[in-house]
Amino acid sequence: MNFYKELELILEAQNPQDKLTMFEHFYTQYKLSNVVFEENFEPKEFSEPSYSSVCKVIAPQKVPKRSNLTVAEGQVNLLHAIAHIEYSAIDLALDAAYRFVGLPKEYYSDWLEVADDEIRHFKMLEEILHTLGARYGDIEVHNALFEASQRTQTLVERMAVVPRYLEANGLDATPMILTKLRKLPKSEMITQIIKTLEIILDEEIDHVKKGDVWFNYACAQEGLSQDVYFEIIAKYYPQGFLRPKNLNTEARKEAGFSCKELNFMAQKQIC
Ligand SMILES: [Fe+2]
Ligand SMILES: [Fe+2]
Repeated sequence: MNFYKELELILEAQNPQDKLTMFEHFYTQYKLSNVVFEENFEPKEFSEPSYSSVCKVIAPQKVPKRSNLTVAEGQVNLLHAIAHIEYSAIDLALDAAYRFVGLPKEYYSDWLEVADDEIRHFKMLEEILHTLGARYGDIEVHNALFEASQRTQTLVERMAVVPRYLEANGLDATPMILTKLRKLPKSEMITQIIKTLEIILDEEIDHVKKGDVWFNYACAQEGLSQDVYFEIIAKYYPQGFLRPKNLNTEARKEAGFSCKELNFMAQKQIC
C-alpha cells in the first residue's frame, strides 16, 4: 500500500462511512509498517471539501445559532456544529500528512494519530446525534476550516494556522460551552454531552502540542524566529485572537505556548 496515494483516496472519499473504514484499514497497515512512502509524490490541490456532497455549505455567519440547550433542537445544533468541526479536523489531519512530503517519519505518525483521535471524536458526537434522531449532514455547515487548509500551503503556515490557531481556539471555546452546559438542569443527555466534550477538550491539547512541535521544527528548517507565528496569524486573521479574555492559559501552556505568547495574545500579563 502506498502512503500518499492511499491518503489521497481517503481524503477524497465523500461518504463518511467509507472514509472512516478506509482510514481504519490504512492506519492498521501503517502501524504494521506495510505502507510505502512514494518518492517524488506531487500532492493534489483540492477545490472542494470532501463533505460537500453530505452537508450543505453556507457562509459562517448564516450557520444556525446554538440556541436553547435544554431542548433537543438546540442540542442537535450544538452537537452538529462540533461534529462538523471534528469531521473537518479528520481531513485537516490527513491533509497535513498528505501534503508535506519528505518529513521525518514521526511527523506522519503524529498526524495519523490525530486523524484517529478526530475520528473517535466524530463518532462519539454522531452517536449522540443519532440518539436525538439526527445525523451528520442534517444541518447546514461552513467550510472555514477547509479554506484555512487551502490557503496555507507551507508547513510553517499550516502548523501556525491549523493546530496552533484554530485548534487552540477550541481549547478556549470548549470550557465556555461546558460552563453553560453545567448550569443547565441535569438530564442524562446534558451529562452525556458534558462528558463527551470533556474528553475532546483533554485530547485536543495533544493536537495543539503536536502542532507546536512541528511548527518549531519548520521554523528551524527555514531559519525563522518563532515570532513569525504572530505575523502569520495577522496575515490570515486580521481580527486577531478570538477570546483574548478567555484564553485557556493552562491548556495552552501544556500545548507549548510560551508566557510571552500568551501575554501578547491577552494583551496583558496573564502568565
Ligand atoms: Fe477533535
Ligand atoms: Fe484536534
